[in-house]
Amino acid sequence: TTMTGTQRESERKPSERKVLRVLEGDAVGPPPAWMMRQAGRYLPEYRATRAEAGSFLDLCYSPDFAVEVTLQPIRRFGFDAAILFSDILVIPHALGQDVRFVEGEGPRLDPLDGRAAYGRLREAGDPAVMTHLAPVFETVTRLRAELPGETTLLGFCGAPWTVASYMIGGRGTPDLAPARALAEGDTALVDALIDRLVTVQTDYLVRQLEAGADAVQIFESHAGTLPRALPASGGPVEPVGDVAESALPDAPAADALTRWSLRPIARMVAGVRARVPGAKIIVFARGSGLDGHARVVPETGADAVGVDWGVDLKALRAAVPPTMVTQGNLHPETLIEGGAALDAAVDTVLAATAGLPHIFNLGHGITPQTPVAHVERMLARLRGQG
Ligand code: CP3
Repeated sequence: TTMTGTQRESERKPSERKVLRVLEGDAVGPPPAWMMRQAGRYLPEYRATRAEAGSFLDLCYSPDFAVEVTLQPIRRFGFDAAILFSDILVIPHALGQDVRFVEGEGPRLDPLDGRAAYGRLREAGDPAVMTHLAPVFETVTRLRAELPGETTLLGFCGAPWTVASYMIGGRGTPDLAPARALAEGDTALVDALIDRLVTVQTDYLVRQLEAGADAVQIFESHAGTLPRALPASGGPVEPVGDVAESALPDAPAADALTRWSLRPIARMVAGVRARVPGAKIIVFARGSGLDGHARVVPETGADAVGVDWGVDLKALRAAVPPTMVTQGNLHPETLIEGGAALDAAVDTVLAATAGLPHIFNLGHGITPQTPVAHVERMLARLRGQG
């Protein structure tokens, strides 16, 4: 018993990496900070590097480029975490779907519009899938070697529903109607696709952690687009065939957020921890409302919930146990606005999370038109210098 106690103590040794310390449950003040999309077009050095390189996906598979742009915001701002430069859509690409990024329009995929298209995807266990992603793991290993010791390195992937909605619709907002239609029409096909994404992405996160990531974030950016209710029948009777037993809902009436978001994420969290004990996992639950955000940690087993800008952080903190770790919430538009409004927004986040475990971040990704000086002002305010 003494030995177990000692062992636990050493496993829980407080990390010098502040973001990891918060994920272990410590309230660190002022909270450590990073920004979603911190490597991106608002940075002149990113635009310069980007102009030299090829297509966006080529960049994601080029460790030289990906390492460089991941480090750029760390050098400039000294963020407490670096997030691997890649994209959630490398997974559909690795599964064999055509993915391209159209300048000024965002991602385009050949829509997965039915069972025939689903049948053309690579199987979850096909070794070609992880071979395709090998440059990402090399990037992670090189990053961990090059980053300052105190910087937490985050890996990531999209949540199954968010990735599935891009795969089905072929594009992001506002064209999520196809994903909803398929979800309401052929629920068994959606179950099968989600199940395959759970398996592949669990493996993907494990490999990022084994390559050197300190923690991972799962982006459920499209939680808000889940169909409100499932068909009364629970969907067509003809199963697709390869859905894991554990993926099937206990009751056909399980709400869509539970069935296609919280439960698949819970399976990923458990699957990752089975292979990487104690792995730290953040789930960003954009658009799921205060109730959805409050359910993420208890229902998925994640270590922290990433909070979108639409949620009242103070109300969320009042609704959940004080031990729950939160991240984010600052409105990206306030960061564009800057000035006193930005100072006030930083103060509001600090007031809502004083003495509580929180990681400072935005409520969604930073946008290309954000002035760099506003990021500096935000950090100065946060660190008590402005
Ligand atoms: O956060 C980071 O700095 C790490 C890198 C990262 C990118 N995309 C780089 C990127 C991460 C974590 C993502 C996640 C991602 N990608 C999400 C989830 C987060 C969210 O924003 O909700 C989603 C939905 C995507 C899909 C995606 N990729 C879209 C919708 C777009 C187009 C939007 C845009 O700004 O053009 C991308 C492209 C993309 N991913 C860019 C970057 C830096 C811009 C590409 C360019 O340089 O031209």
